[in-house]
Amino acid sequence: MDHFLYRDGMLHAEDVPLSEIAAAVGTPFYVYSTATLTRHYRLFEEALSPLPHVICFAMKACGNLSVVRTLANLGAGADVVSVGEYLKARAAGVPGDRIVFSGVGKTREEMRTALTGGIRQFNVESEPELAALDEVARSLGLRAPVAIRVNPDVDARTHEKIATGRKENKFGIPISRAVEVYAQAAAMKGIEVMGIDVHIGSQLTELEPFEQAYLKVAELTRALRSQGHDIRRLDLGGGLGIPYERSNSAPPLPTEYGEVVKRTVGDLGCEIEIEPGRLIAGNAGLLVSSVIYVKSGEERDFLILDAAMNDLMRPTLYGARHEIVPVQEAVPGMEQRLYDVVGPVCETGDTFARQYPLPALGPGDMVAFRSAGAYGAVMASEYNARPLVPEVLVNGDQFAVIRRRPSYDEMINRDSIAPWLQS
Ligand code: LLP
Repeated sequence: MDHFLYRDGMLHAEDVPLSEIAAAVGTPFYVYSTATLTRHYRLFEEALSPLPHVICFAMKACGNLSVVRTLANLGAGADVVSVGEYLKARAAGVPGDRIVFSGVGKTREEMRTALTGGIRQFNVESEPELAALDEVARSLGLRAPVAIRVNPDVDARTHEKIATGRKENKFGIPISRAVEVYAQAAAMKGIEVMGIDVHIGSQLTELEPFEQAYLKVAELTRALRSQGHDIRRLDLGGGLGIPYERSNSAPPLPTEYGEVVKRTVGDLGCEIEIEPGRLIAGNAGLLVSSVIYVKSGEERDFLILDAAMNDLMRPTLYGARHEIVPVQEAVPGMEQRLYDVVGPVCETGDTFARQYPLPALGPGDMVAFRSAGAYGAVMASEYNARPLVPEVLVNGDQFAVIRRRPSYDEMINRDSIAPWLQS
C-alpha cells in the first residue's frame, strides 16, 4: 500500500496533486511520500517486536538526506557502504551508534573516519579487511566493533546481478571457514567481535532462502558461543522484495518475514539488526515524466518521454518493469493504446517498456513510474549531459524540493580545461 492515489481525476502524492509539483519544479522529478516511508518502517518495527532490534535503512536504496532524516526521526539507523554514505547518514541526523558499515572494499581512510566519528559496527567481509581494520583501530587506540559477514551459500532466487549469498559471489567469508576467522578476530587487540552478519540478495520474493540462511546463522551462533565468542548481535541483512507490477503475485509481507526471523534466530537472545532498503523506499517514490512527442512508427507507436535511462536505470540494467500510469486518471471506456515507452537518450536500451497499454496521450501529458523510490534517483547519472532529476518530499499537503535540479552552468563548471588547452 502506498499514498499515491487518484483524486478528482488526478494522481496525488498524499494530499498534493502531482500537477502542482510539476508546475513548481518541472519534469522529470522524483517524489517521495512521508506517510508511505513511515508506514513501511513501522511494518518492520511491528514484525520484529518484541525482539530487541535495530532497523538500519540501507541508504544505497535512497540516500537523500530528507528521506534518511524522516526515517531517523522514527528511530531508524543506517546501513552504509561508503564513507560518503556514512557522512550523509550523519548529516541526516543518524547517530554513529546506529550506523553499520557494510561493503567488500572499505579503505583504511574510510575505516578511520567511521571509527573516529562513531560507528555501531563494521560488517567485515574478508580476512585482509579484518587485518586492516585491526591495524587502523590499534593505531587510533580504539577497538572496532565487528560482525563478520558470512556467505551461507544459499540461492536467493532473484536476478543474478543482485544475488549475493552463493559461494561464487564476492561477498562475505565462506560459512565453512567462519570458526577459524572468528578465532583470528578474537586474538586481535583492535577488534571486538559483536556478532554475525548475513545478506543473501535483494528483491527476494520467497521466504525460504531467508529461512535457510538464518538457520545456518543460528547454527553458527551456537558453534561460536561454544568456542567462547560473545555473539550478541545478528545482522540479517535486507532483501525483502516488493511488487513491481500489479499482475505479480505479491511478495511476502514484513510480518511473515518477522515470523521467519523469530522461528530461526529468535531464541538466541541476540539483538537483531536488519538492513532493508527497497521495501521501505521502493513504493514510497515515483518518477514523474512528461511526454515530449508521440511518434507513430511503421510497426509501433513510441511515447517519447523527458525521463530516460540515465534517470531510472533499472529497466535497461536488469530488465526491470515499473508500472507506468497516467497522471491524469484514465476514465472507464477511454481508448487504450499500446506504446513503446522510451526516453530521449541515443541508445535503443533507453526503453522503459514495450507495447505498454496506456490511454491515448499527447505532448505535455504526464506519466508516473511507480515503485521508483528505491534504486532510482541514487543510480541516476548525467549521461548525455542530462541534469540529475530533482527530488521532492511530500508530507500531507506540504511538499519541499529536497534536491534541486542542477543548472547547466553547474554541470559545465564541474569540468575544467587542461592548462595546455587554455588560450
Ligand atoms: N544490505 C546489504 C549488505 C546490501 O548489499 C543491500 C543491497 C541491502 C542491505 C539492501 O537490500 P534491499 O532491502 O534494498 O533489497 N540496484 C539493485 C539493487 C542492489 C541491491 C544491493 N544490495 C536494483 O535496482 O534492483
